[in-house]
Amino acid sequence: MRISVAPVPRGFAGCDADTGIIVVDVFRASTTIAAALAAGARFVLPVTDVEQAMRLAEPYAANEVLLGGERECQRIEGFQLGNSPREYTREVVAGKVVIFTTTNGTQALAAAKDSGAVYIGSFVNFNVVADAVAGRDKVTVICAGNNGQLSLEDFVCAGGLVARLAKKTAQLDDAALAARAAYRALKDDLARALASTEHARRLADLGFRADLDFALKIDSVPVVPRLHEGRIAGDGSGQVV
Ligand code: MLT
Repeated sequence: MRISVAPVPRGFAGCDADTGIIVVDVFRASTTIAAALAAGARFVLPVTDVEQAMRLAEPYAANEVLLGGERECQRIEGFQLGNSPREYTREVVAGKVVIFTTTNGTQALAAAKDSGAVYIGSFVNFNVVADAVAGRDKVTVICAGNNGQLSLEDFVCAGGLVARLAKKTAQLDDAALAARAAYRALKDDLARALASTEHARRLADLGFRADLDFALKIDSVPVVPRLHEGRIAGDGSGQVV
């Protein structure tokens, strides 16, 4: 297996159709997408801008669709949901289409969408997503980062996926080696290490401390979100119902 890591989305230069891609935005888009699908959302439709999200909602009846996401970490005006995974409960999202836009996570998905088999991973679905790509010859993990800069929580999660997937014969690029080293250095006290990242501090200051705890609970939301034809479904097949 060849494993590469793009520490930020612009580090991803494309790949062939057989490559397994995992897009990681631990705080919080990947975690929230997993939470929405685990709570029974029909599918998540990721988009890069707010106007596009509103336009795409128009054909749906009001009780079929929810607009979710954030700018500056806060719910967008006119949207029903923000980007806290705790908002995406069964009562709120079951059976609904969620149209979703965030500052970095959905931009990273846009960078990945035309290449490979695209999964959305985080700590909350760490092992099931790793299993979903384990049979492939090539895997690329794309870290969403923050406005083009590296986010330690995404990089460390990517490193954990590398550690989980790499057998002795695996070929790792330098970013994958670095991410794995970072993961190994921090894995014994992940929650404390990642709670001190820039994005974690920002979220805590804004009152979203509980989202950090949610996002760092390993394997607590074992769904396999897969992006296929612009929609994310939760059983790894990319098929929506
Ligand atoms: C993003 O996509 O930039 C994040 O998920 C931001 C956030 O924490 O809301």
